[in-house]
Amino acid sequence: MRILAIETSCDDTAAAVLNNGTVLSNIISSQDIHTDWGGIVPELASREHVKAIGVIVAQALRQADSDMDSIDAIAVTSGPGLPGSLLVGTQFAKGLALRFNKPLYPVHHIEAHIYSGYLENPDLTFPSITLVVSGGHTGLFLVRSAIEFDLIGTTLDDAAGEAFDKIAKMLGLQYPGGPAIDKLAKNGKADAIAFPRGLINQESFDFSFSGLKTSVKRYLQQHPQERIEDIAASAQHAIVDVLVAKTLRAATANNINAVTIAGGVAANSELNRRMRQTCNDRRWTLVSPRSAYCMDNAAMIGFLAALRMRNNVQPTVDFRISPASIRRKATH
Ligand code: KG4
Ligand code: ZN
Repeated sequence: MRILAIETSCDDTAAAVLNNGTVLSNIISSQDIHTDWGGIVPELASREHVKAIGVIVAQALRQADSDMDSIDAIAVTSGPGLPGSLLVGTQFAKGLALRFNKPLYPVHHIEAHIYSGYLENPDLTFPSITLVVSGGHTGLFLVRSAIEFDLIGTTLDDAAGEAFDKIAKMLGLQYPGGPAIDKLAKNGKADAIAFPRGLINQESFDFSFSGLKTSVKRYLQQHPQERIEDIAASAQHAIVDVLVAKTLRAATANNINAVTIAGGVAANSELNRRMRQTCNDRRWTLVSPRSAYCMDNAAMIGFLAALRMRNNVQPTVDFRISPASIRRKATH
C-alpha cells in the first residue's frame, strides 16, 4: 500500500510518500514570510500554499521514486487548521484523486500528531499516554488502540506553543518563539524567577498558561534590566514543570508505562531532558519522535491513514470514478 500524503493545515506545505507505513519521502516547505509579522497571517499562508503545493508534491513523489500510477491512496489533512490553508491541500488532493482515480483519505491533524510516536517505533504497544503540544493545541490523551483514544486533559486558555510564542514576542524574539526561547534558555538560570505553574497542584489533567504570560509581562515592566536569558530559562522551566507533572500524573493514574510526546513543542530540549529523566527513573518507555515528525509534517498524515486502513477503517471520501460512470459521461 503506497500512500501520498498532503498537509497544509497551518504555515507548512508538506507532502510525503509512505510504503506500508514506512516513510520514503517527507518534504516540508516552511513559510518564512510570517516572521516579519510576528505571527501567522492566514491570508498570506494560503497564498504561499498555492505557490508551493505542486512543487512539494512533485518533489515528494520524485524522492520516493514514485509516480501517481504507483500510488494506491491519497491522504490529506482535513482539519483542524486555518480554513484557507486547509482548502488548498484538500482541493489539491481531491483534484489528484479525481484525475488519477484514487481513494482519498481525510485525516484529523491532531490524531496524526497523537499517533506520530508509533511511526518509527512499531514495538510501542497500546495503551500509552500521549502529550500533544503545539502552537494551536495542548492535550493529554489516553491512547487505547489504533482507533480508540480519550482526551483526558486540555488547556483552558493558551496552547503551550502559543505561550512560548507570546513570551518570546515580549522578549523581542522572532516568530516562532519556541526554538528561540529553547536556545536562549541554555545560557540562562532556570531558577532565577519563580513564575507561576498554572493548575500544577490540581487533580485534573488540564493546563493553563495565561497566568504565566501575564506574570512574565508584569515582571518585564518591573525589571527592564533583567537578563532575558534568565527570563527565558525561568519561563521555559515553568512550562516544562507543568507539562511533565501532568503527564506523569496521567500515566500513574491510569497505570500506564509508555509515554509519547508530539507536536512542535515536543522538540523542546528541556522538555525532552526532563521527560526522559522522569520516565527513566520509573523504567517507563518514552517515545519522542525526531523533530521532522514532531513539527507539522505529511509523514504522520500518511502514517495514520495507513494505520487506520490496516485496522479496517476505510476512507470516508472516495472519489474513484467507476468505469460505468465514465462511459455514461462519454456517450452523453
Ligand atoms: O506542531 P507545530 O509545528 O504546528 C502547530 O500545529 O501548531 O508546532 C509549532 C509550535 C510553535 O508554537 C513553536 O514555537 C513551537 O511549536 N516549537 C517549540 C520548539 N520548536 C517549535 N517550542 C518550544 N521549544 C522548541 N524547541
Ligand atoms: Zn500540528
